[in-house]
Amino acid sequence: MWLDLYLGMAVFLSVECKPLNKGTHNKLLVISFDGFRWDYDQDVDTPHMDKLVEDGVKAKYITPPAITMTSPSHFTTITGRWIEDHGVVHNMMFNSTTHQKVGHKATLKRSEWWDNGALPLWITAQNQVRNCGQCVNRALVEETGQQDDNETEWRQNIDTVLSWFTEEDFDFVTLYYGEPDNVGHAKGPDHPDRKTIIKQIDRTIGYLREAIQRDGLTDNLNVIITSDHGMTTVKKIPLVDEIILSKYLNFFNLVYFELLDYGGFGMITPKKGKEQHVYDALMKAPNLTVYKKEDMPENFHLSKNDRMQPIIVIADLGFNLNSVGRLIVYVNKGDHGFHMDEMDMKTIFRAFGPDFKKSYLSEPFDSVHIYPLMCKLLQIDPAPNNGSLSVTEGMLVQNDTSRELLLENTVVHNKPRRPDVSEKLESAHLEPTIIHTMLKVA
Ligand SMILES: *[C@@H]1O[C@H](CO)[C@@H](O)[C@H](O)[C@H]1NC(C)=O
Ligand SMILES: *[C@@H]1O[C@H](CO)[C@@H](O)[C@H](O)[C@H]1NC(C)=O
Ligand SMILES: *[C@@H]1O[C@H](CO)[C@@H](O)[C@H](O)[C@H]1NC(C)=O
Ligand SMILES: *[C@@H]1O[C@H](CO)[C@@H](O)[C@H](O)[C@H]1NC(C)=O
Ligand SMILES: *[C@@H]1O[C@H](CO)[C@@H](O)[C@H](O)[C@H]1NC(C)=O
Ligand SMILES: [Zn+2]
Repeated sequence: MWLDLYLGMAVFLSVECKPLNKGTHNKLLVISFDGFRWDYDQDVDTPHMDKLVEDGVKAKYITPPAITMTSPSHFTTITGRWIEDHGVVHNMMFNSTTHQKVGHKATLKRSEWWDNGALPLWITAQNQVRNCGQCVNRALVEETGQQDDNETEWRQNIDTVLSWFTEEDFDFVTLYYGEPDNVGHAKGPDHPDRKTIIKQIDRTIGYLREAIQRDGLTDNLNVIITSDHGMTTVKKIPLVDEIILSKYLNFFNLVYFELLDYGGFGMITPKKGKEQHVYDALMKAPNLTVYKKEDMPENFHLSKNDRMQPIIVIADLGFNLNSVGRLIVYVNKGDHGFHMDEMDMKTIFRAFGPDFKKSYLSEPFDSVHIYPLMCKLLQIDPAPNNGSLSVTEGMLVQNDTSRELLLENTVVHNKPRRPDVSEKLESAHLEPTIIHTMLKVA
């Protein structure tokens, strides 16, 4: 299951928006390297990332939202909303009434799973462009099942998206790489292969910078490099006991629906009237924190959403949750999904380009604040969100007040329409699912 899911995500994606208000802002490229733990560059020689520290902005680390999984976290980045607000609460889509569970791939073109009213940035951007027919109209994604650590293809992908900026005048492109997450799961974060892939990522960043210069984009392209979560070593038998929940909980009698066996995070819907039973039973399991939905810490920002089930379990760092009598061969040597305040779940933020300061070291911040920063860079009026520009604006070169005035005017004349969300997503042919969509380059 896990493996399948991760293959599904081992893709390269790009969406873009063109053109915004001409002449008032620089272009923006956002790159996500899935599962890049905050300290992965510290035990590997990474000359290009080191150079970036001088030439741009580095955050010490950033904190993902409370469910440290790929889809929930990326969706927070691209909407600026907490998970309870955007409703993508797991990599697996599910319906606890029908017991339906739908893997990532099957939901990609179906916005009913993704569209909970929180707009991804590219839709908001599109809505604010005058005379925009098909501003958001392209995705470039590797075929599923394909090995996705081919460095030649990584470079080709960079050439392609840069040509979208130069030849087609796109303003905003996002680019996704499935590494180092794949290697982190398969081999574990401490394996030499993880260092090898970090070196490859570093060379790719070096290539990106060369290509930006080659294509004359140095002075008008901002780049943000970030990720969705970290990675930790899975604790294995015989060093630890796996948490087998059926030892503590009679699933047959007490449980109506569960979303378990996807690493350290899970949700349970008790049968009617059995909530306290389930809670009490699970409280006896070691190496596990059990929450009633309504009692979850406020800073998780999870309680409000209907898709959150009544009981939430989070294993201690590195522990795997095994639910029932299912025989699960748990092949992952590394995993994520643990508490966002565990250092192993923290991830990276780097940025460079004409609007970013140089040699600027930012204090850690929550990834939810990336959204208002992206809006500021693109001079888009942000949709309602939970981020705050004040957290990140210190990293910007604030050198032109007339830009602010221009933005004010732009907003007045260019009031974002607030169309029906579904309709808008339809018409854009771009469900938010595109974050890991699987279309092929035309
Ligand atoms: C689950 O499926 C049922 C039956 O199709 C539907 O009525 C319900 O709205 C769905 N629930 C959610 C949360 O999507
Ligand atoms: C990597 O991609 C290039 C370009 O598509 C291809 O020619 C090459 O065979 C690939 N290498 C591997 C090892 O798959
Ligand atoms: C897991 O729980 C067991 C039993 O309570 C305890 O002895 C052990 O120290 C815990 N392991 C960790 C790593 O917390
Ligand atoms: C702000 O300063 C940077 C570097 O000093 C420069 O490249 C950029 O064009 C300036 N932006 C504006 C709008 O003047
Ligand atoms: C997050 O933002 C949404 C949209 O503005 C708002 O409705 C919600 O109350 C915010 N959440 C928090 C915790 O402030
Ligand atoms: Zn991920």
